[in-house]
Amino acid sequence: MENRAQWGTRAGFVLAAIGSAVGLGNIWRFPGVAYENGGGAFLIPYLFALLTAGLPLLILEFTLGHKYRGSAPLTYARVSKGAEWMGWWQVIIAFVISVYYPVIIAWAMSYSWFSFGKQWGDDTVGFLLTDYLQVTDAGAVGSLVMGVFIPLVIVWLITLGVLFAGVKKGIEMANRIMIPLLVFFFLCIVISALFMEGAAQGLNAFFTPNWEMLKEPGVWVAAYGQIFFSLSICFAIMVTYSSYLPKKSDVTNNAFITAFSNSSFELLAGIGVFAALGFMAQATDQPVSEVVSSGVILAFAVFPQIINQFPFLPEVFGFLFFASLVLAGMTSLISITETYIAALMDKFNATRKQAVLYGGGFAALISFIFATQGGLNFLDVVDYFINQFGIVLAGLFEVAFLAWFAKQLKPLQSHADAISDIKLGKWWTICLSVITPIVLGYMMYGLLKQNLVGTFENETGQYGGYTSDFIFNYGWSVAIGAIGVAVILAQFKSWGSGKLDVPVSADNKEVSS
Ligand code: PHE
Repeated sequence: MENRAQWGTRAGFVLAAIGSAVGLGNIWRFPGVAYENGGGAFLIPYLFALLTAGLPLLILEFTLGHKYRGSAPLTYARVSKGAEWMGWWQVIIAFVISVYYPVIIAWAMSYSWFSFGKQWGDDTVGFLLTDYLQVTDAGAVGSLVMGVFIPLVIVWLITLGVLFAGVKKGIEMANRIMIPLLVFFFLCIVISALFMEGAAQGLNAFFTPNWEMLKEPGVWVAAYGQIFFSLSICFAIMVTYSSYLPKKSDVTNNAFITAFSNSSFELLAGIGVFAALGFMAQATDQPVSEVVSSGVILAFAVFPQIINQFPFLPEVFGFLFFASLVLAGMTSLISITETYIAALMDKFNATRKQAVLYGGGFAALISFIFATQGGLNFLDVVDYFINQFGIVLAGLFEVAFLAWFAKQLKPLQSHADAISDIKLGKWWTICLSVITPIVLGYMMYGLLKQNLVGTFENETGQYGGYTSDFIFNYGWSVAIGAIGVAVILAQFKSWGSGKLDVPVSADNKEVSS
């Protein structure tokens, strides 16, 4: 039978999975989400979401990849022929993310450089939007911004170079270098931030629990949203990575290690970011609530201000922060890009070289749109729609299909149990067949209500204050288009003969690769 690439070591696989999970979302998304949704009290819905959805789904995806040994489309096609399109759908979502995610890494690369000499000056927002990104009106493209384009080309050269080198020599090696480096850099940042005056104030603001907030459904939805995004589940990634596992692999334990490492890093980032914000609040004589932000503004406008104020080796502090964003982002980008490299190899019998060249090259070309003056506006809308609808809807389809229609939970449970130390109990089945679909269904309902009303009635609920046309063109059409493209790709009949046969599973005797 086929000869599928394999990880060299168990640690290699776990590091790659952690590399995918730990990304920009941990550093700039989690601290803000936690702060806005109850501070210390948010840890309760967060842990609840981790245990009822994040971890069970991660175990599910690791087992699925290990058992069916394929990229997402091949895996779903092996579960049931009619389900191939779902694998493609997740792959397309990953593809879309992979065309704008590298742009943010490119900005971080430039900013690591700008840190030396604090080139952003005092007006950091003005510098970001006008001097660096040269942003134009929403919908307009404008010209290519060289300061973004050049680092973007570098990001792609590294990513495609790593993918070109293969699973063991490329992805595993890259994560072995980048993840320890990331942890080291980030620990330096957190420790130095904790020594600054005002750090305690920041931590107080972050951890002070607002128990009242737990009554709001929105807080629970935010917790589930964060967990899904943060663990990179329902994006074809974890299925693809685990398809390279050797026959003897403790999938359940690996999932525990990945999930808890990711959450630990997330918590560490919350502490680091809020210690730094507390320091800045103190230095500029403002309450912490005035300086809190997240996402692009936190990383590229507020952090430069913190660096401006920083008393101790500010250039180094700045460099370490932006280099951490680059490292965290790169390992996630590698994982999302590998989903379609693997899919192209499986479906069209392409060599790795061809798949990287055509798949990766195509993504790189499209990503250049985001290196134009209109880039930030496109990025904002595409990111919002593909993430919200992508995760929630694709996740809902995934669990509903596997748990209810294909009745896969029992066989997958016995597959996982046969190779893992920790045995899956009833909680696993209940979480996946009842709790996760209900939560995802509820999230979908909320999203549709909010966005449909906004888009079609032109109300203020509309996302980000953009016009309906802009949102329709770049938000909805991308989110819906992803499904269309997936269905078309699933119609091609290119799998080689016998390819859809399910590999003899590891809980039986032999798997030949
Ligand atoms: N999990 C990554 C993070 O926390 C983001 C990511 C999402 C990466 C989806 C790939 C795909 O930032």
